[in-house]
Amino acid sequence: MGQATPTTKLAVVTGASSGIGYELAVQCAGQGFDLIIAADEAEIDQAGDKLLRMGVAVEALEANLATTEGCDKLYAALRGRPVDALLANAGRGLGRAFVDQDWQDIRYVIDTNVTGTVYLIQKIARDMRDRGAGRILITGSIAGFMPGTFQAVYNGTKAFLDSFSFAIRAELAETGVTVTCLMPGATETEFFERADMLDTKVGTMKKDDPADVARTGYEAMMKGERSVIHGLHNKLQVATATVVGGGVAAEMHRKQAEPGTAEPQKSDG
Ligand SMILES: NC(=O)c1ccc[n+]([C@@H]2O[C@H](COP(=O)([O-])OP(=O)(O)OC[C@H]3O[C@@H](n4cnc5c(N)ncnc54)[C@H](OP(=O)(O)O)[C@@H]3O)[C@@H](O)[C@H]2O)c1
Repeated sequence: MGQATPTTKLAVVTGASSGIGYELAVQCAGQGFDLIIAADEAEIDQAGDKLLRMGVAVEALEANLATTEGCDKLYAALRGRPVDALLANAGRGLGRAFVDQDWQDIRYVIDTNVTGTVYLIQKIARDMRDRGAGRILITGSIAGFMPGTFQAVYNGTKAFLDSFSFAIRAELAETGVTVTCLMPGATETEFFERADMLDTKVGTMKKDDPADVARTGYEAMMKGERSVIHGLHNKLQVATATVVGGGVAAEMHRKQAEPGTAEPQKSDG
């Protein structure tokens, strides 16, 4: 018996086990996209189970997207099915002073945020270009506009992604493929704990809701916008960093990300 050709649109969401990526997958499911979701750890299955309850087809895949093999595994899971939307969101942070960081951690951040992301986007964007249709959302960051004192490598990877996103968008103009860069500011996810930044101001201050950030990104992607910064407070941060220049912005970042700058926790008593 031949395999039925799916008529539903397909979205691929990376880093969908938690945080912004999970909420991006919720947005896609809410609009009736079938989903292929991927992350590095087994929690992706629980995310898949929750998304299934939204009434769409979901395939959850454990794949280390810092590696070529992991990205190939995700691409193979498509089994040739066209991707209507690629939401390239998987990413890792890394706090503390550059010279004190572990090289393997640094490497993992670069391999996940830059190498794996670019590799996967190239494979899927090429298919989209050949088909003359597709939407790509890249989760960059407002961090890409600021030298990341005590988050130096991470901010560098996000500067790369912001720039890369704008460039391939321009290259793909007139092909039917749109590229949108979602630039969140500090958002309430597992990101800061995983980046070992719970003793910093940014790690402990009130942050944006990942569901709101994801809605902003999803809507911008569907409109085919170039980029979107979630929230006025984040737009102001970017404007300030741009006006004051790199040296001052690097000192501003220190106040947010230097270990020992955590906000005092308010007690209930
Ligand atoms: N939170 C913020 O303040 C903030 C601000 C701006 C931009 N961002 C960006 O938003 C994106 C999502 O982060 P988040 O805040 O939602 O953090 P999160 O809750 O830690 O989610 C990160 C997701 O990426 C996945 N991931 C990380 N490394 C991976 C790898 N090598 N292979 C496969 N999956 C991998 C994680 O899955 P596993 O746990 O299975 O590895 C998880 O699903 C990231 O690109 C981040 O840089 C976050």
